[in-house]
Amino acid sequence: MCGIIGYIGKQKAVPILIEGLKRLEYRGYDSAGISVISPPRVDEQSSLRVEAGNQQPAISKNGKIDIITVKATGKVSVLEEKINGKDIAGTIGIAHTRWATHGKPCDKNSHPHCDCQKNIFLAHNGIVENYQELKDDLIKKGHKFSSETDTEVIAHLIEEFNKKFDFKNSVLAALKLLRGTYGLAIINKKEPDKIIVARLGSPLAIGIGNGEYIIASDFSAIIRHTDQVIFMEDGEVAILTKENCEIVNMKNKSIAKEATKVEWSVEKAEKQGFDHFMLKEIFEQPDSILDAVRGRIIEKEGMVKLGGLRDVKEKLADIEKIVIVSCGTSYNAGLVGKYMLEEYAGITVEVEYASEFRYRKPLLNKNTAVIAISQSGETADTLAAIREAENKGALTLGIVNTVGSTIANETMAGVYNHAGPEIGVASTKAFTSQLSILALLTIFLGRQRGMSFVTGKRIATEMNKIPKLIANILKQAKDIKKIAKKYVQYQDFLYLGRKYNFPIALEGALKIKEISYVHAEGFASGEMKHGTIALIDKNFPTVFIAPRDSVYEKNISGMQEIKARSGKIIAIATVGDKEIKKIADDVIYIPKTLEMLTPLLSVIPLQFFAYYVGILKGLDVDKPRNLAKSVTVE
Ligand code: M6R
Repeated sequence: MCGIIGYIGKQKAVPILIEGLKRLEYRGYDSAGISVISPPRVDEQSSLRVEAGNQQPAISKNGKIDIITVKATGKVSVLEEKINGKDIAGTIGIAHTRWATHGKPCDKNSHPHCDCQKNIFLAHNGIVENYQELKDDLIKKGHKFSSETDTEVIAHLIEEFNKKFDFKNSVLAALKLLRGTYGLAIINKKEPDKIIVARLGSPLAIGIGNGEYIIASDFSAIIRHTDQVIFMEDGEVAILTKENCEIVNMKNKSIAKEATKVEWSVEKAEKQGFDHFMLKEIFEQPDSILDAVRGRIIEKEGMVKLGGLRDVKEKLADIEKIVIVSCGTSYNAGLVGKYMLEEYAGITVEVEYASEFRYRKPLLNKNTAVIAISQSGETADTLAAIREAENKGALTLGIVNTVGSTIANETMAGVYNHAGPEIGVASTKAFTSQLSILALLTIFLGRQRGMSFVTGKRIATEMNKIPKLIANILKQAKDIKKIAKKYVQYQDFLYLGRKYNFPIALEGALKIKEISYVHAEGFASGEMKHGTIALIDKNFPTVFIAPRDSVYEKNISGMQEIKARSGKIIAIATVGDKEIKKIADDVIYIPKTLEMLTPLLSVIPLQFFAYYVGILKGLDVDKPRNLAKSVTVE
């Protein structure tokens, strides 16, 4: 969790840092802070006056280098207001937006944190697991702490080593003592021409500009400035000056790294006229699915081409079992994948919450493929599950949206979603792109295992039609909003679906819970009569996903059972289904497609429904309370 950004160059750091923090706010938004190195005051008489053109505006009143820090509880806009009117003129600085782990959200726990002498300031994303023992030791040595955070120990550790080493070696020495994860940006008044950044388990990228560097937790905060990015890897430390970027490993050995050209545009990361990122991302789905399948479907051969799996193609042919590990929405996508892969590729698939998998003793071997599904590619539980799988000798694969993310880097092979940046905390377009990739994977593995050309071609042809079918559903946004208005006062919802649409019931319930703070339960519709039906009355509406598929009749029976108990029903049905209109109170229609692809359509009305209930309640749907976009802690 948390977002960090740093700037070193010729421009004023503050506006760049604030703008970057706003882009990173999805990573956490309970408090924010900024630290900028301020040069000594330069005046007409001063011998410190620098050459024209390279002149830095003055700020430090005492004629010494200073570090100006401003912190604020709440969103970045609160920090921005606090800074307004302050003359913070330095060109080197770091900033942080927080999602609390240790210590409640408040100014004193906000980053950047500093040492006793207020020389060293740092912003941290991650957790120092052994912070208590380090803190006790530092307190014995006389250090005074001013926050409840785990992070602060890092500043004091560096201070301790800085008594005998230079800045770089002090950082290296301190990092060796840490257990846990970090993405770090550090400045030091004693060496005020540098930012040092370090990564272990929390993402960090370095944007290379013209005489400037911008470092950030992800490149959505960098792309406004440059498309040239170095993705740091675990165990790497970068020492940045305006002119140079030196990267070393923990043994202080230089590492040569190439910059990557990032294709995502600034516009893609902005709202483009929509009220919320979530709405924009719902509407982007025809395009994001096209991007996910583009160049990968060879329709006339009933085949797919997945470049990221090329090197493991032979190995995949021998795989006997797949285990999908993921969390939240990505877990729900994995469940749909199970139905697809078992039915069409004839391969056993287990789907596991990554947070459980890592603590079990899973039975894996070299004939098991463990697939991590993750939008962010940084989810701590999913990452740990993949590491566990690798230790056990399994083939590890990723279905990941964020290029250069840790899960993408650590899995042996994989397929990128290419859905573009997803900023809304509630996952929408990432989910449908995950389903699209799973459909392609089904063709890929199925054709390796005897799926006929005809079947492969049928799935490929139908998959190619999905973006247009979704575009048709999007036209119903206003009608779905009207339905949302009718139901906005209800406090409880049941979501039911069967077979391919059981995971969509889970996903619909998750969506409304997370952005509308409404209690909702997702269930397999056949399970309802085994207990859940007791909840049904006129105050407990059901969203029933019942397209015309192989379990349609069963779903109709389930609906009758609900109506018999005075329950209200919103049905998601296939266009042309008149029968369902006689039973349900409200119907949202989706076009017809192949049964295995119906989840790609049926989830769209549920995304809209959750969105509209949320905004009708006046909630901040892009940044729901208590959540963060990527969960990089356990
Ligand atoms: O980045 P990931 O896909 O690994 O994230 C997994 C979950 O944290 C995520 O899907 C979460 O459930 C979303 N907020 C759901 O909308």
